[in-house]
Amino acid sequence: MRESILILDFGSQYVQLIARRVRECRVYSQIVPHTISAEEVRRRAPKGLVFSGGPASVYAEGAPRCDPDLLELGIPVLGICYGMQLASLLLGGEVRPAPAREYGRTTLKVVRPSRLFDGLPEELLVWSSHGDQVRTLSDDFESLAATPTCRFAAVKHKSREFYGVQFHPEVTHTPRGGDILRNFLFNICGCAGDWRTETAAEQAVANVREKVGGDHVICGLSGGVDSAVTAAIVHRAVGDRLHCIFVDNGLLRKNERANVEKAFRDNLRADLDVVDAADLFLKQLEGVLDPEEKRRTIGRLFIEVFEAEAKRIPQARFLAQGTLYPDVIESKSPVGGPSATIKTHHNVGGLPEKMGFKLIEPLREMFKDEVREIGEYLGLPEEMVWRQPFPGPGLAVRIAGEVTRERLDMLREADVIALEEIRKAGFYRKLGQSFTVLLPVKSVGVMGDERSTEHVIVLRAVETTDFMTADWARLPYDLLGRISNRIINEVRGVNRVVYDISSKPPSTIEWE
Ligand code: XMP
Repeated sequence: MRESILILDFGSQYVQLIARRVRECRVYSQIVPHTISAEEVRRRAPKGLVFSGGPASVYAEGAPRCDPDLLELGIPVLGICYGMQLASLLLGGEVRPAPAREYGRTTLKVVRPSRLFDGLPEELLVWSSHGDQVRTLSDDFESLAATPTCRFAAVKHKSREFYGVQFHPEVTHTPRGGDILRNFLFNICGCAGDWRTETAAEQAVANVREKVGGDHVICGLSGGVDSAVTAAIVHRAVGDRLHCIFVDNGLLRKNERANVEKAFRDNLRADLDVVDAADLFLKQLEGVLDPEEKRRTIGRLFIEVFEAEAKRIPQARFLAQGTLYPDVIESKSPVGGPSATIKTHHNVGGLPEKMGFKLIEPLREMFKDEVREIGEYLGLPEEMVWRQPFPGPGLAVRIAGEVTRERLDMLREADVIALEEIRKAGFYRKLGQSFTVLLPVKSVGVMGDERSTEHVIVLRAVETTDFMTADWARLPYDLLGRISNRIINEVRGVNRVVYDISSKPPSTIEWE
């Protein structure tokens, strides 16, 4: 059985971050509901358990609990913040509101040597976010570290392999947090750390091969990394029994279709069916101004086109989809945090059942960065593996108001210039997303001696890791200047470029 760590989700916004940090140490991790039974944990035989933080107070009504027998299994447990408070309570400690709440950075002083802080200095910067803290502990515990306002900032149970930390080792604001987690995984749980991209990729390939047998598979490509890596895995597993479908809806970026064709025909030599449906989409979008109606129209047409195309491959019984781990985490967060959301893939939503396909989702257990690593391992080109996300409805949601060919062309030209300059300046990979938006308002300008009224382009560039929150990127003025100059000089019909300096929330990343 492969070694793993189970992370119990008590509703912290950082649950996925913990899981990723553990995987970065090459140890496979899974997020599970806090209600998991000790019996189930025993069956899964993890090397260790992490109890996540959570926003509740352990005494609050309905505060999430866990099976107390989890602490009797002989499996090492690391409790983080709420997770520490809950476990301490179950083991005879007392948790109370702290006289001074601790939010943000604070200095931790290690007071007793332990395997958790092995190799770390006596004083560490750590990041906390809690109102309650463990106030008294039975003699069964010993304190490992303290902060100026918290005597039990890190504790250990004397006879059980339970460690608790009041701060958050998983966030980057705790600079040595990674070392603390590593100590837990390797010194305390005895992990080997042999989870590798290659293993994950080969395992995914083997699983697909086993599941599909001698059948055929259809995979819809969007041009994005998830569907590309999905197709690459399935292709490795079943070769020319994979049939890829790429729908050109006329709302793609410049050269996008050619790039996808090139990547798939040259690199994978996969069977690729490119459907030119631009006329159909643009015709149906005529006069549509409402963003949600645009999305609905595009979604409906996509399904129609895809379905018709899939019928041309009657031997296919499987549909491959690029669902990622954050979309399917089995836990429903007790407080409805990010781990509660289950994304329905808008592109092919409802299709598999309707058409009687069986689904294969080879990336179901992966995080985005792992998907990228697998893509590289399978030989996909760099531009594809590191591509920023692009919305399914494409440029339609980046043209405020009606979508027309003329506006699409204008936006495409502006977009390609912006990305070219951002890439050249070395910012592309640092940004979560960067793109341009065309506004329906016209602004006045002087071109030569003439006054003219022309279009406004918005430049949007954000930094984000999870796309739930995002901050506008502080791009250098010179870069902004170059992008603006080039767009105004080179794109006919545009005489003004503005930079969007709104964060999410309250703004969203896209304009529609
Ligand atoms: P917002 O604009 O909500 O976007 O901050 C968050 C992320 O979702 C993408 N996005 C979409 N993706 N279909 C998609 O496939 C859509 O309708 C859609 N709308 C937004 C957006 O690009 C960003 O990455």
